[in-house]
Amino acid sequence: MSLAADFGVTLTQHVLGNQAHHPGARGRFSALLTQIGVAGKLISAQVRRAGLIEVWGGTGETNVQGEKVQKLDRIANDTFVEVLRRSGCVAAMASEEEDALIPVEPAFSGDYVVAFDPLDGSSNIDVSVSIGTIFAIYPRRHPDRVGLDDILRPGREMVGAGYIVYGSATVLVYSAGRTVDCFTLDPSSGEFFLTRRAIRMPDRTKYLSINECNLPYWPDWVGPTLSAIKGRNDPDVRRVSARHIGSLVADFHRNLLTGGLFMYPVDRRTGRGKLRLLYECNPLAWLAEIAGGAASWGGGAILDRQPTGLHDRSGLVIGPAEDVALARRMMATHGDPEQG
Ligand code: AHG
Ligand code: MN
Ligand code: MN
Repeated sequence: MSLAADFGVTLTQHVLGNQAHHPGARGRFSALLTQIGVAGKLISAQVRRAGLIEVWGGTGETNVQGEKVQKLDRIANDTFVEVLRRSGCVAAMASEEEDALIPVEPAFSGDYVVAFDPLDGSSNIDVSVSIGTIFAIYPRRHPDRVGLDDILRPGREMVGAGYIVYGSATVLVYSAGRTVDCFTLDPSSGEFFLTRRAIRMPDRTKYLSINECNLPYWPDWVGPTLSAIKGRNDPDVRRVSARHIGSLVADFHRNLLTGGLFMYPVDRRTGRGKLRLLYECNPLAWLAEIAGGAASWGGGAILDRQPTGLHDRSGLVIGPAEDVALARRMMATHGDPEQG
């Protein structure tokens, strides 16, 4: 068995190597990414011991989203917040698990603002199925103050985004705007090593990732879109298959590598989507676009949406550009509650 050609390039080396493309970053961006890697390793260690130590189950709390907080949600949140707070790179944070903007005291304050979902896929924690952490990085707007306007910005203003999946291996995927690269945690050395360089999302949809049990509550465009994609199969050739994990981050990772379309449309009953714009849709949309895919909410690209609150929700169609465009055409024909 030979080692991959890129084996040996660590996350830190890779980020430092790319710094030349971020002239204004002054090394702080590299430090931030490295610290996000540290937080990922700490959370991974907790996830890997779940069941052995007392981290399965709920905390008894309900978060600002009205959802039950799992113990690992809380651990992942506190780990991410503390590591980033002490990094000296961050001025403020927004987390799925925290109601308001999390300020960083002036002594530690840095150049960036970070939004994150500390643990995505909560329903999969206690059954040992892949879960992850998702993050979006913005430059702070003003040197002397920080506020909500630092984070309530369209996704296009990001300077970096990524995720960590705690799956059959722990992988960290990030982009600083040029390429999407993947690193795998080597448990023996405790380092993330580059394992996939400049990932391109395949053009064709091989997998459909959707919770189809929700079909009765979804807008009229969803059924015909699914039928059009499934209709590519014939008795001799299977071109499309279903793969749905129920952890957006893990579904997206598989789809990024193999070509898959993930959809979580708006619920007709509420007129809104389930997934959160700032720390679920935006960072993954950023990665999808850089890898050659696309992400839409219906009326346009996810990355052009102007958020109004930290926990805004959005419809999401993300995957190969051709099928994101197909869904948009179907929405235009059949209508979508979010578009009015
Ligand atoms: P979170 O665990 O951070 O609250 O997010 C869960 C999200 C997402 O990961 C997943 O795709 C979706 O919820 C699943 O929702 P359904 O159970 O409604 O399909
Ligand atoms: Mn989530
Ligand atoms: Mn979460």
